[in-house]
Amino acid sequence: MFVQTIYESRITGKFGPLVLLALQKSAIVRNRELGITSFLYHDGERIFQVVEGEPDVLTSTMGRIGASDLHNNIKARAMLRCEKRSFPHWYFGATHSEDPHFLRVYRALKKPPFLKLDVLEAVQILQMVAQKKRRAVKMDQFSIKVRNFNKNKEPRVLLAVP
Ligand SMILES: Cc1cc2nc3c(=O)[nH]c(=O)nc-3n(C[C@H](O)[C@H](O)[C@H](O)COP(=O)(O)O)c2cc1C
Repeated sequence: MFVQTIYESRITGKFGPLVLLALQKSAIVRNRELGITSFLYHDGERIFQVVEGEPDVLTSTMGRIGASDLHNNIKARAMLRCEKRSFPHWYFGATHSEDPHFLRVYRALKKPPFLKLDVLEAVQILQMVAQKKRRAVKMDQFSIKVRNFNKNKEPRVLLAVP
């Protein structure tokens, strides 16, 4: 059995790509060790994060998240028990209001602003974004493999006509 905590908070300072990257670097390592999976959305002012894992590690992780000066006004929007994780492939996935993957999903759905959505609908939309991101990464890996394959290719030898 897993527990999922979904919260919203207010960003205190700047939450640009470098801040997020630093956060991601440390949280991924810790979440991986603890079996926590997570997906975060932000719009530069507010954060919406889904954090999931076994109950005791989730409590300590939420304690760490709550202690950070990067945000305040943390409000739990839902705490759910679940059989399956919503983001099984993400130790710390993230998207934001101007992320092309997010925009592609969100514009097609024609919904009110993301943070005004019902919490379960918001999680479903983040799952779609996460799926798009995974597909994009797989395509990138595929094209790198294809490029490397072409680079390593031996020049074609023309068969000599006897
Ligand atoms: C938006 C946000 C999300 C976080 N997510 C996680 C997480 O998923 N796992 C984790 O162990 N810590 C998480 N943290 C906590 C940070 O990894 C780190 O412990 C905390 O930012 C350190 O506090 P400081 O920034 O005040 O030094 C999060 C912090 C913030 C602000």
